[in-house]
Amino acid sequence: MIDHTSPSMVSLNPVKRTPDQLYNNRLYGISRFLWMRQIYSQIQKVKQHFQNFLSPQVYDINSFSWFSGFDIETCLAEIRETAVSLNLQLPLEIVKEIFDYACQTSCTEPKYPHRFWIDQVHQGSLPDGHSVVRALVDEPSNCPAIKQLIHDPILLEIVHRYLQYRPNRITAHLTWSIASNLPETEIQKIYPPTYYHYDIAGYNFMTVYFYITAVQDEYSGPHIMIEKSHLHKPLALLFSGRHPDDLVYRYYSRQQERIILGNAGFGFIQDPSCIHKIKPPVNNHRLLLQLRYS
Ligand SMILES: [Fe+2]
Repeated sequence: MIDHTSPSMVSLNPVKRTPDQLYNNRLYGISRFLWMRQIYSQIQKVKQHFQNFLSPQVYDINSFSWFSGFDIETCLAEIRETAVSLNLQLPLEIVKEIFDYACQTSCTEPKYPHRFWIDQVHQGSLPDGHSVVRALVDEPSNCPAIKQLIHDPILLEIVHRYLQYRPNRITAHLTWSIASNLPETEIQKIYPPTYYHYDIAGYNFMTVYFYITAVQDEYSGPHIMIEKSHLHKPLALLFSGRHPDDLVYRYYSRQQERIILGNAGFGFIQDPSCIHKIKPPVNNHRLLLQLRYS
């Protein structure tokens, strides 16, 4: 059974993490190694096989998908080879529903103790003068469209086949990246994902991303990644969390760098153990939905 109602589903916000989660997060560090992620997948595959044999599991999967006709085989081949597959597309009415939810729901920012709404942010600051670079929308899974997406049968099929087991945990994250005129080097100091990095989101994991606001140029907050870096990382990058661009370019060719652009509703599926970053938006806030499977 997919555990999407566990406390961990609703407490990924670092300000609410429990001691158990912090302990688990430290253990997850071993999944920086590809071979560790592969072993974990095999263990889960065997475990789920026997669980199913002893008592057939009932999985909470929708019969309807917004992505019917999506080429699953090509998608899987692309992720295995490059770490990403593009060209998912959400219907515009769903994009609007998620956008409206994000506008009407309170947000938090790590290390800032008060809740706020996105329309209270002006020129990168809240009314009390606190400067804000990102806003995590509260309880994304309370949005009916996101709740439906979490159980989309095509997304779950892709995740199941890539990870080789049914995900034990799914979390949804709806995040505003705040438009800023600050130099990128200044933003990097307070918004770590703007550095090249790779994710550790469990013992094995993958992520589906949807741009809820259009990302059509380098000023609107594109996701940038290094293709094929999920398969190989030099030691200099494997044991550090934030990588300056010049260090990354020392080990990977510029042809491997992919800037992902798309209209509102555009989606892509990634193995986020690849090296990636967000380029901070300049003109308008960027709203991103992430579904993380582990
Ligand atoms: Fe990341």
